[in-house]
Amino acid sequence: MASPRATGRQRPPLSDGDAHARQKQAAATAAAELIEDGMRVGLGSGSTVAYLLPAIAARGCEGLRCVATSTATEKAALALGLRVEGLDQVGELDIAIDGADQIDPEGWLVKGGGGAHTREKIVAAAARRFVVIASAEKDVRELTAPVPLELLAFGVQRTLAMLAPARLRGVPESPDGGLIADYLGPVGDPQALASRLSATPGVVDHGLFASTMVSTVMIARETGVEVRTGAKPD
Ligand code: 5RP
Repeated sequence: MASPRATGRQRPPLSDGDAHARQKQAAATAAAELIEDGMRVGLGSGSTVAYLLPAIAARGCEGLRCVATSTATEKAALALGLRVEGLDQVGELDIAIDGADQIDPEGWLVKGGGGAHTREKIVAAAARRFVVIASAEKDVRELTAPVPLELLAFGVQRTLAMLAPARLRGVPESPDGGLIADYLGPVGDPQALASRLSATPGVVDHGLFASTMVSTVMIARETGVEVRTGAKPD
């Protein structure tokens, strides 16, 4: 095919949004190739996963059993003809694939931009292999706030005071009745912050995912999809 230079036609410059969308699709398409007949598959949530679902459906694998991490993912997967069941019906998963908001050089993640991090963490932990798919801007030198939180409604103002600085996000509650909030302070050592958040009464779960949960990271750039091996053995 002739290049824009050879034909003299100028391609309009890509906006960041166009580039990110194209990269999300590339990472999702690469990850879908890991899906094989009969697999039990955890499906994450968000706009990157929105590209993953049709890519999985297009593979035409037989006997897939999927578990969704959000009602949006469940609806989209069912509409594509994928079989979706509860995690307790399916049990251990062969693979879970999900997006991320930030990925640091050690493989720690911030997730929960869509407020689904509690279910996402449960599904990731249920999978023998956890694969993270992302566009290039998610690859960061160090993790920063906001770190998503899911909080019990009971005594939430006291919980927020213990987590300060933190605030409610003002979005609908999770399907499990939790309030979605964000921790807004320094992150520093993610393990130390994760321990502090987990130890705070009223915190259902937080969006820091330890590098030891992650098997593979696929980061799409304009030059191709970089595949990194995570700390969790396949
Ligand atoms: C939702 C998540 C998403 O995976 C994360 O926010 C990334 O979203 P996107 O793919 O839309 O950039 O954790 O709770």
